[in-house]
Amino acid sequence: MKVVAPMAGISNSDFLNKVIPYGFDVATLGGYSLDTPTIEASKKIVERGRKEFDFPLDEIFSHIENEVDSVKEVHNDVKVSANVRATTPQPIIEIGKIRNLDIVEINCHCRQEEIMSVGCGQEMLKRPDFENFISEVVDNVGCEVSVKIRANIDGVDTLEVAKQVENAGADYLHVDAMKKGVFDADYNTVKKICDNTEIKVIGNNSLNCEDNIKKMIETGVYGFSMARAVISGNLNFNISQF
Ligand SMILES: Cc1cc2nc3c(=O)[nH]c(=O)nc-3n(C[C@H](O)[C@H](O)[C@H](O)COP(=O)(O)O)c2cc1C
Repeated sequence: MKVVAPMAGISNSDFLNKVIPYGFDVATLGGYSLDTPTIEASKKIVERGRKEFDFPLDEIFSHIENEVDSVKEVHNDVKVSANVRATTPQPIIEIGKIRNLDIVEINCHCRQEEIMSVGCGQEMLKRPDFENFISEVVDNVGCEVSVKIRANIDGVDTLEVAKQVENAGADYLHVDAMKKGVFDADYNTVKKICDNTEIKVIGNNSLNCEDNIKKMIETGVYGFSMARAVISGNLNFNISQF
């Protein structure tokens, strides 16, 4: 599986429709904030000048619904995913009911202070109700569920988190294999997850050349994703070969 990873403020339907032809079969919209605490956090992020999607509560559902259709109209063979944040499962469950949405992705990855201060993004991984949160979404949506995590967070055992996501019944574990001070993916951690779980792992981080993609595939992942390398719109290699 070849996934366009989410980028808040960038990954809308126009952007995805331009980059899908590089050979992606899953395109991720978002991340979007879905409830009052996360929407307030998004507003603060916009105010300090960072790229971010900022939609009011009464528009966000229909906005995502329209964005999903805008991708499907152009690329009906591609799965569409929506990366979302909320403090409770309910708004995520609502998004997961969107007719043409294939995957709802729970954002347990964002490290913007405003999002973390309401217990979302990578702070989700420290919540005592983390596994229940995921299983409540899994049990109540009609589409597939992905959980996007950041690896190697201080005080968090990445493999334990992977096992919780698997136990909760999610379909995919999307791992940003970031490691502090290293400008490459932490392939060892991804391999450890693949060797010790059965969940479909999507490996991510610094996949900006053929060699890195090959190294990621060798870990045993089900798929891989790319974010920054597709922003320029000038990928100098074809990902269809993988
Ligand atoms: C501008 C920008 C915005 C991002 N926004 C999100 C987001 O909203 N949700 C998320 O899960 N990841 C987000 N990410 C992280 C990417 O999806 C990806 O995990 C990260 O950039 C590492 O992959 P890469 O090396 O291919 O860029 C963002 C990354 C960038 C550069």
